[in-house]
Amino acid sequence: MKSDRAPISFTVNGALTSVTAAPMRRLSSVLRDDLRLTGTKVGCDAGDCGACTVLMDGEPVCACLLPMASVEGASIRTIEGLSNGKLSALQASFLAHGAAQCGICTPGLLVTATPLLEHTPRPSEQQVQDALGGVLCRCTGYRKIIEAVMEAWKHVSATDGPLDLRLPPAGGAIGASPVRLDGIPKVTGAERFGGDSFPADALSVLVIRSPHHRSSFSFGDLDAYVADNTGVVAVFTARDIPGINSFGVIPPFADQPALAEGETRFRGEAVALVACESWAARDLDMAAFPVAWRELPASLEPADAQAEGAALVHANRAGNLLVRGLVERGEPESALAQAVCVVAGTMQTSYVEHAYIEPEAGYAFVDGDTLTIVACTQAPHMDRDDTARILGLAPEKLRIVPTATGGGFGSKIDISLQPLIGLVALKTGRPAALAYSRTESMASTTKRHPASMQATIGADADGTIRGMVFSGEFNTGAYASFGPTVANRVPVHASGPYATPNYRAIARAIHTNGPVSGAFRGFGVPQATLMQETLLDELADQLGIDRLQIRLRNALRNGSETVTGQRLESGVGIGECLEALRSHWTRALAEAYAFNATHSMTKRGVGIASCWYGCGNTSLPNPSTIKLGISPDGKLVLHQGAVDIGQGSNTVIAQIAADALGLPLGDFVLRSADTSITPDAGKTSASRQTFVSGKAAEKAARALRDTVLRYANVSNEASLQLLQGGLLLVYEGGERRRIDLTQLDADKDGLVFVSEESYDPPTAPLDAMGQGKPYAVYGYGAQIAELEVDLALGTVRLVKITAAHDVGKAINPMLAEGQIEGGIAQGIGMALMEEYIPGRTENLHDYLIPTIGDVPPIETILIEVSDPEGPFGAKGLGEHVLIPTAPAILNAIRHATGVTMTKVPATPSRVLAAIQQARR
Ligand code: FES
Repeated sequence: MKSDRAPISFTVNGALTSVTAAPMRRLSSVLRDDLRLTGTKVGCDAGDCGACTVLMDGEPVCACLLPMASVEGASIRTIEGLSNGKLSALQASFLAHGAAQCGICTPGLLVTATPLLEHTPRPSEQQVQDALGGVLCRCTGYRKIIEAVMEAWKHVSATDGPLDLRLPPAGGAIGASPVRLDGIPKVTGAERFGGDSFPADALSVLVIRSPHHRSSFSFGDLDAYVADNTGVVAVFTARDIPGINSFGVIPPFADQPALAEGETRFRGEAVALVACESWAARDLDMAAFPVAWRELPASLEPADAQAEGAALVHANRAGNLLVRGLVERGEPESALAQAVCVVAGTMQTSYVEHAYIEPEAGYAFVDGDTLTIVACTQAPHMDRDDTARILGLAPEKLRIVPTATGGGFGSKIDISLQPLIGLVALKTGRPAALAYSRTESMASTTKRHPASMQATIGADADGTIRGMVFSGEFNTGAYASFGPTVANRVPVHASGPYATPNYRAIARAIHTNGPVSGAFRGFGVPQATLMQETLLDELADQLGIDRLQIRLRNALRNGSETVTGQRLESGVGIGECLEALRSHWTRALAEAYAFNATHSMTKRGVGIASCWYGCGNTSLPNPSTIKLGISPDGKLVLHQGAVDIGQGSNTVIAQIAADALGLPLGDFVLRSADTSITPDAGKTSASRQTFVSGKAAEKAARALRDTVLRYANVSNEASLQLLQGGLLLVYEGGERRRIDLTQLDADKDGLVFVSEESYDPPTAPLDAMGQGKPYAVYGYGAQIAELEVDLALGTVRLVKITAAHDVGKAINPMLAEGQIEGGIAQGIGMALMEEYIPGRTENLHDYLIPTIGDVPPIETILIEVSDPEGPFGAKGLGEHVLIPTAPAILNAIRHATGVTMTKVPATPSRVLAAIQQARR
C-alpha cells in the first residue's frame, strides 16, 4: 500500500500543508494522526454523527468521508482555526449558554454553525435546526445549542475584551451559573478525550470479536499469523492473562472475562488481541485471523433462556436467573380485591444503546514498576481495581488517569478496553493504544435492560391508591454487570412517588446471550415507570378523575412512608412539582381540545408522568472522599476525583466548596481525577456526585476553613481573602491578619493547608421483604408532553415538554437545566425511536437517536424543596430527568388517539398498527 502514497497539498487553517498519504485515506485520519489536529473528533467514521465536520472551501463536510485524493488544493478549516487566539463570538456564546456538556460534539457543531452565521448573523430557530441537523449531540438535548447559535451575535463585542466567566464573589457561588470551570477547552478543540493523545510510538491494538450470539472457538497457528503479517508484533489470548480473567462492577457477580475462554456468550465478545505498528493497522486483514467459530444455540429472550432445556449461559450456575429483587408491604391481593377500581396492563421495552458520541478509547504504558492507563471512564478507582485483578497487579501498581470523557450515561462505569491495552503494554513493554470503532463500541458494551412487565393497581372511587402488584423480567444479557442493581432498584421505585400501602414488586434479572445490560441513566426505573405511569392514566380515566389530580392525590408528602417502610421526614417535593405544572396542564389541555376540534387526521394529545429516584447506591456503602488545600502561591486546589462526563461536577463541586469555605470560585484550580493523586470520589453514576461528592466537598471545605481559622487564632466569624503571590488575609472585628503562605511547609502535594473528608450516605439494608432505608435522599420530578399524532402515518410530532424537577437546591441552575434537557432528549429516544438489535443496528444510521429537529421546546421549572442531608439542601438530578419523559409521551399518544401503547419505542409502524387494531 505504501507505493500508493503520494504528496497531497492543501491549506489547513490558512497554512499551506503537504502530506504524503494514500489517496483513499480519510481526511479525518490525516488531520488527527499526521497533523495532530485532534479537535476534529471521530464518532462513527461513517458520516452519521457529524463530529468530524470541517469546512472544505467554506462548506461543512464530514472529514471521515473525504478521501485525501479529493483534498488536493482545497482549503480546510477545523475547530483549531476558529479562534485565532481569542474565542469567536459563537464559541463565547456556547460557553455562556452551557451548550457544551461533555464537549465531544462541540467542535463539529461550532464548525458547522460558522458558515451559517457568516451568511446569516441572526438566524431563526428553523435555520439553526436546518444547518445543524447532521451533527448529533447525546448530552444536551440541543436546546442550549440552538440558543447559543441564535444569540451568538450578542457576544461579538464581548470577544474584544476579557471573557466574562460570570464568576461569583465569595459567598455567592451557590445558585449562580458561572460558565463551566472546564469549559474553554471544550469550545476550542483543545480538550483531550480518550483518543486524542496517543503516543506516536504506541502499538495499535485490534480486537478479534465473536460474530455469533454464542459460539465455541479455537485458534489456528497464531505464531505463523504474526510472522506472515508485516507490522504485527504479537497476538494475545486469554491464556496470556496473568491474573484472574473476570471482572464485574458488583464483586460477587464478577463473571465477565476480558478475553473469552473457549466459548463466547454474546455477539461482539472479545477473544484475542492483535498488537501491531500503527501504520500496519490500517491495512490489516482482520478476516485472515486464524480463528475457527462453531455457532451454538443461543437464547436472546428471557422466555427462551428460562424454557425447559434451555442451555445455561453460565454452566456454573443453577439456572439463567441472575438475581431476583422483591419489595412487599401490606396485603396487596386483598387490597386489590377490595378496591373500587382495578386496572392491569403490560409493557415491553427494548435494548437501548448509550450512543455517546465518543467511542471508548485510551492508551497504556509502563512507567517504572507501574502500569498507567489513560482512557475515558466514569469510574477510575473501580477501573483500577478490576484491571489490576485481571493483570495480576497490586492496585497501587496500576494508575488510572481519566481523559475527558465524551459521554458515558452509565456504560463507561464498566471497564472495556482497559485490560486489553494494559495487557499489551505489560507484555510488549511498549505503549499500546486502542480506539473502538462505532460498531465495536455498540456491539461490545452495555445497554439498557429490555424489560417485560405487568402490573395491577387498585384504587378507591376518589382515586386513592389502595394496592399495587408489579412483576418484571429484565434481560440482563450474557454477564452480570449492573443486573443485580437493576433487579433491586426497580421494586423500590415501581410504585412511583405515590403512597401505596399494599404493594408487591418483583424484578428478575435473567441471563441471555444478548448484549450485556448494565447501567444506563435510571437503572431500570425508566422502564418500570413506563408501566406504572401509563397504568395510572388508565385508572384516572376509568374513575373519571383528572390525570394531574390523581397524581396529586397520591403524591408522597413529608411524613409519608414509602413502599420499603422508609418514613420520609422532609424534602419530599413531588407535590410541589405537580402543582407547578398545573397552569401548564390546563393550558395544554385547552389547546389540545381546540386543535382537535378543527383537525380530523392529526390529533393532539397531552400526557403527564412523575418520577422519584433514590440518589446513590441501593442500601450499599457509597462513599466519596474529597481533598482540598491551599498552595503556597495562594490557590485553592480541589482534588476532584469525581469524573465530570459532561454533567458539570467539576463546576458544581467547586461551587459547593467555595461557599462552604467562604472564598470565591475564581480562587480554585482543579486537580482532575488520577488514582495516584486524587482520593476516591466513587463512580459517576446514580445521581450521586452532587449529593455525595458535593457533601464530601462541603465537609472538606468546612474542615479547611476551621484549620485556617485555628491557625490564625480567630473565630468562625472571620472572613478570608487569598492574594496572588501567596498571601492569605484573615479579617475579624476590623482587624486584618496576614499569613505568608510562601513561608509555610508544603506537603507532598504542594499544599500548606489541607483537608480531606469523606461522606457516605446513611442508608440501611433491606430485609427479606425489601423493607428498610435504601436511600438517604430522593429527588422528584414531573413532566408534561404535548404532541400531535398523524392518524394516517402513525408519526408523532412533539410540540412541547414542560418539566418541573425538585433538585433540593439548584447549585448551578444553568447546568441543572442542561441536565434536564439532555435527559428529556434521551427519554424521547427511548419513547419513540431507539431499539438496539444485535447484528442489525450496530451503527448510527440504523440505530436512531434524536437529532436537533426531534427535540421540541422545553420549559424547565426548578423546584427547590431542601433536603437537610444534601449539601446546601441539594439532591441528585442526572437520572431523574429522563424517567418521566417516555411515559408522558405514551400518555399523550393515548390522549390523542385513545390507543395505549404497550411497547417502546412507539415507532410510526407500531403506533399505526395500534390505531388500526383499535378501529377493528
Ligand atoms: Fe454533545 Fe456531549 S455535549 S455529545
